[in-house]
Amino acid sequence: MPITEISDGEYDEFRAFLEQISGIVLGESRQYLVRGRLQRLLDEGGFLSLGQLSAALRSETSLDLRTRVIDAMTTNETSWFRDELPYDYLYHVILPELTREGDGKLRIWSAGCSSGEEPYSIGIVVQEFLEKNPGSFSAVKIVATDISSQIIDRASIGQYEESSLSRGLANAGRAKYFSPVETRWAINPKIRDRVEFRQHNLLQSFTPFGQFNVVFCRNVLFYFSRVKRLDIVERVVKTIKPNGFLVLGSAETIDHGSLPLARSKRSPAGMVYRRTGDPGEEPS
Ligand SMILES: C[S@@+](CC[C@H](N)C(=O)[O-])C[C@H]1O[C@@H](n2cnc3c(N)ncnc32)[C@H](O)[C@@H]1O
Repeated sequence: MPITEISDGEYDEFRAFLEQISGIVLGESRQYLVRGRLQRLLDEGGFLSLGQLSAALRSETSLDLRTRVIDAMTTNETSWFRDELPYDYLYHVILPELTREGDGKLRIWSAGCSSGEEPYSIGIVVQEFLEKNPGSFSAVKIVATDISSQIIDRASIGQYEESSLSRGLANAGRAKYFSPVETRWAINPKIRDRVEFRQHNLLQSFTPFGQFNVVFCRNVLFYFSRVKRLDIVERVVKTIKPNGFLVLGSAETIDHGSLPLARSKRSPAGMVYRRTGDPGEEPS
């Protein structure tokens, strides 16, 4: 039975809880969004109101329910080579700089990777670079994380509908890096095997991930409050090796004055920062 009314109190309780567990901030009066996204889950669980669902979510045994709510409430909008410029910059500036300065090992983190288009696009750029510059990196690892377990499962399979590929992937890229599997397209195993997918909430510790030469954290930060955003950026910066790079979404400039970060040279407006500071800091 569709829930027709969500009272202001129920809505406020739900959005406070969602922010607490995921960092995602829902605006005022977005009851329609919550209703649309959760209706199926409410029906299947036999919940008669959003208030009943919130009460169940607060119970200690509701981990599975929490996962399903997070899966339903996250916006996973993404595309291949989204905005193009960061991928051009990766190829033309970041990878050559790392080749000159690094130890030959390349570690990249795609934080908030959604269904995998971002980390696989990164993988394709790295592969193209390696073909033009053989031996420039002896080992390549791309760690891709997202809070939504459903989306991580999908991403790790690495198969895409025509409708996904038609968003941002040129024909040459499709012919070279995908093969047809029934009605879908499977990413080349060489690219897939370089990407390690993990379900992870950016509000939690980054310690297990170690350090990276490059972090892509694109179109994720705008979900969070200012305070949480700053906390996440501060901790992300600690995962970046000195002289490594932080790549943000095209509209996501940050106030980096108090952080060991500098605008990267020739960077598209505010999008790419370079880690400064001493090498001793551990991720937290
Ligand atoms: C709009 S998508 C962006 C995907 C990709 N980075 C891009 O730019 O195309 C945002 C992703 O952030 C994820 N996300 C939201 N809150 C998160 C959190 N607390 N921890 C980790 N990922 C989160 C969502 O599940 C979603 O897949």
